[in-house]
Amino acid sequence: MSNYQSILVEKRDKVAIITINRPDKLNSLNKTVHAEGVAALDELRADDSVRVVVITGAGEKAFIAGADISEFADATPVSQRDLFQQRSFFNSIDVFPKPVIAMINGFCLGGGNELALACDIRIASENARFGQPEINLGIMCGGGGTQRLTQLIGEGRAMEMILTGDMIDAPTALSFGLVNHVYPLAELAEKTLALASKIAEKAPIALQLSKEAVKFASRSNLDEGLRREVDLFAICFSTEDKAEGVAAFLEKRKPDFKGK
Ligand code: COA
Repeated sequence: MSNYQSILVEKRDKVAIITINRPDKLNSLNKTVHAEGVAALDELRADDSVRVVVITGAGEKAFIAGADISEFADATPVSQRDLFQQRSFFNSIDVFPKPVIAMINGFCLGGGNELALACDIRIASENARFGQPEINLGIMCGGGGTQRLTQLIGEGRAMEMILTGDMIDAPTALSFGLVNHVYPLAELAEKTLALASKIAEKAPIALQLSKEAVKFASRSNLDEGLRREVDLFAICFSTEDKAEGVAAFLEKRKPDFKGK
């Protein structure tokens, strides 16, 4: 992997971990993090040994405390619009073909919450706090918050978070369905990596197509979604992994999926 300035990328067996590494600034997202995040995902997309990606923040206080507010002074409408256009970090996660898990180890605010929302699964520590505090800066969400948060937790809950800028704690996030699991901070990495490793053993093409189909559910109507699903399902029947999965079941052994 390349060497990066503001993120760390580490591989553990079939799981890659991207760590936003600016703990002194609570891992806030500056231009370097955005650019390096896109570059790292490009590398991990092409690396067949990587089956699942986990994104987290350095230190024990913050996952990501939002956009780097110090960069707002020079921001223009054009620079801010460019940040979230096609090749943004968030959109790269959204369209990344492999599963991406947000391991939320503390403050998860603003763009940090939007980044987590772009991931496929969110796992949090008990000390995590979630919010969209943009309103307190006189601005609003720009990285998908109004859309993805609303789809995930419903309009009333999203509206309250976005209009007040107030934080919610981890149990509340769990009850809203914003995160799938909450663990003590000391257990967060172990539990998240266990889930990532479990998913990493599945057939890569079936994972990719499943992710595409599930994401399509919130972007289409039921008839279009059902048509898309059956097309993707049919593609699975062209893969070597389907033959391996079925043979392994019949032979009562563990399948060895190759992503072919
Ligand atoms: N952008 C830039 N710097 C940030 C930051 C952000 N989003 N969030 C925190 N920091 C910096 C602080 O300026 C401080 O830097 P310093 O030590 O050089 O002064 C450092 O990170 C630690 O943060 P601090 O505010 O001292 O920690 P805290 O425990 O008192 O408060 C928060 C934690 C998360 C409540 C508070 O940092 C905060 O509100 N951050 C901004 C969150 C936000 O509005 N995000 C959305 C942006 S659109």
